[in-house]
Amino acid sequence: MTQNRELAIVTGASSGIGFELARQLAERGFDLIVNSADEERLRPAAEEISRRTGAHVQPVRADLRSYAEAERLVAAVAATGRPVAVAVLNAGVGEGGAFLDTELEDEFEIIDLNVRSTVHLAKRLLRSMAAAGEGRVLITSSVASAMPGPFHSVYNASKSFLQSFSQALQNELKDTPLTVTALMPGPTETDCFHRADMDDTKVGRSRKADPAQVAAQGLDALFAGRDKVVAGSLKTKAQALANKVLPDSVKAAVHRRMAEPGSADR
Ligand SMILES: NC(=O)c1ccc[n+]([C@@H]2O[C@H](COP(=O)([O-])OP(=O)(O)OC[C@H]3O[C@@H](n4cnc5c(N)ncnc54)[C@H](OP(=O)(O)O)[C@@H]3O)[C@@H](O)[C@H]2O)c1
Repeated sequence: MTQNRELAIVTGASSGIGFELARQLAERGFDLIVNSADEERLRPAAEEISRRTGAHVQPVRADLRSYAEAERLVAAVAATGRPVAVAVLNAGVGEGGAFLDTELEDEFEIIDLNVRSTVHLAKRLLRSMAAAGEGRVLITSSVASAMPGPFHSVYNASKSFLQSFSQALQNELKDTPLTVTALMPGPTETDCFHRADMDDTKVGRSRKADPAQVAAQGLDALFAGRDKVVAGSLKTKAQALANKVLPDSVKAAVHRRMAEPGSADR
């Protein structure tokens, strides 16, 4: 790795918002450790970023639903001997459908990845950052964090957890050099909805924001030390404003219209 570039780590960097966050961090002068669970997707993503930016990009495959594999990622970071200047905890999945129909195992996968692995990595990386005397963390939450999510219930709840968690850490760390920023994208053009089996929903079929734009807004907020940023289209920003005033029952009804299976054709 090059000595004059700082080190950033990005989870869920093989595609979508995470790929863009990693690519743009490399463009902003960082070397990278990039992670995902799928070697076949991660390696070409790492190679593309390195080729396009000249950064040193080390792929570390680890299925973050597993405690042991998350620890392996932490160990790979430590093995570089370099402090982590930026940690982007972005890996996340959803699962659409009625709670009565979805598999319990799939709900646990959401919790294990979105919630458990984020807490795990934040614990390890923030402690290292505190010892080094600097560091910035970006946690990918969602505008969904402020909405009860009928037909995507565990996912939205996982993002509410991340939003609360990020904001609590910001307060705990306010007198330190460490920062924590919550990235709150609205619907964004990635594999996310297809993987969540939501192609037949209104939100799945809707026009979505460009992940490059979402990532750029996230990184601007991260380096400005902001507590959170709503990222994406004007519609997303309007939704986030509405979320501040609408009662939960109305937000749940709005979400239902967008996420109910079959809603795309209604
Ligand atoms: N797209 C949206 O509308 C939207 C809106 C708000 C928030 N978000 C959030 O943005 C983040 C990125 O999602 P995306 O939209 O960019 O979708 P995506 O393209 O599907 O990206 C998800 C990333 O997570 C990785 N991942 C999945 N399971 C993993 C595991 N067990 N261990 C490690 N990595 C794993 C995937 O890599 P592999 O498949 O290669 O393992 C991929 O790199 C997620 O936290 C998502 O909740 C998305």
